Amino acid sequence: MAEAHCTHPFDLRERSDLERRESRKWSLFPGTIGAWVAETDFGTAPAVKEALHDAIDREVLGYLAPPIARELSQTVADWLQDQYDWRVEPQRIHHITDVLAGLRIATRFVTPGSPVIVPTPAYMPVLTLLPAIGHPVIEVPGTIDDGRWQHDTDAIDRAFSSGAELLFLCNPQNPTGTVLARHELENIATVVDKHGGRVFADEIHAPLRFDGRPHIPYAALNDATANHTITATSTSKAWNVPGLKAAQLILSNDADQAKYRREELGAPFEASTLGVIAANVAYRDGREWLEEKLTYLAQNRAFLQRLLAEHAPSIRWQPNEATYLAWLDLGEPTPDAATAFREAGVALTPGRACGEGYENFVRLTYATPKPILADAITRIGRAL
Ligand SMILES: Cc1ncc(COP(=O)(O)O)c(C=O)c1O
Repeated sequence: MAEAHCTHPFDLRERSDLERRESRKWSLFPGTIGAWVAETDFGTAPAVKEALHDAIDREVLGYLAPPIARELSQTVADWLQDQYDWRVEPQRIHHITDVLAGLRIATRFVTPGSPVIVPTPAYMPVLTLLPAIGHPVIEVPGTIDDGRWQHDTDAIDRAFSSGAELLFLCNPQNPTGTVLARHELENIATVVDKHGGRVFADEIHAPLRFDGRPHIPYAALNDATANHTITATSTSKAWNVPGLKAAQLILSNDADQAKYRREELGAPFEASTLGVIAANVAYRDGREWLEEKLTYLAQNRAFLQRLLAEHAPSIRWQPNEATYLAWLDLGEPTPDAATAFREAGVALTPGRACGEGYENFVRLTYATPKPILADAITRIGRAL
């Protein structure tokens, strides 16, 4: 049995406690290990909790106040500068409820009804949201090179030629965990620029990288990408506060910024006040906690490899470069695998929800205490 080496406080979080909390992760499929949604079981940074308690004590519960919003814009600008060497004016950073709200806004910068390119496998809701708001999706499967998922830029080129105007670019990528290198971003930028296309850069997973891999914001590459990109990010994944509903939309194109204000594409008070307060503290004072969590997640990533080798050797997995998601290849189309695993006590995301042709995959969230991870993989192994 692969040894868990439980020495970290995160290891000691009990399944029964997690189940008692009112989380979607653990309650949507009662009686199973919640390994499907991209949330962690580690709570959030102490500084974030303190700030929330303090805000409640001071009854800061009204619509988002301009000084609080301005403070977060400045903090995000500082974060982008320190972490990624990207200089953004704070006035370009807008507060929205979540990243998908940002995607909806991004579609206002292209022709109504024009197709959107979504590289696959993809974060599932993107594939359903876009058609629901009148934008057909052109799925562009990525390619695999030496086990690593990457973009098929020729296919993206063809999709733009066929009439798409917007590319959904998720970096780091959910679910594969690929972090795009500069030359990869440049290849994409060349294709987009050739077609006068636009990019929605979903960089929500950027703080969750391993092995010292840098994150290069796509809009920060050069003037062309700054001009054709709408960026969204959030503290919701890295600091695990998705229920607080506050994300950031970054408009690096002057015309977008003017249109956003003129047409009031996002209400200035739509993000949640507590969410904005939490995000401000997370980016500013939650860095040490994030580092510690990343160390734990890196251990889990290695532990997952050992667990799979021992209990489910037929599953192929290329350890992710970022995120805490594992994109597991079952080797052959197994459309009912997620159901079978759920019956065995582990709730995962079926690969087919991430795009066409992924029936042989499941997505697993491994941001859970090691004993629970071990239990999950043992159950998966048995179900196989
Ligand atoms: C790639 C990606 N984009 C967007 C989201 C949505 O996050 P939120 O609703 O917190 O903005 C998620 C959530 O898992 C995600 O993984």
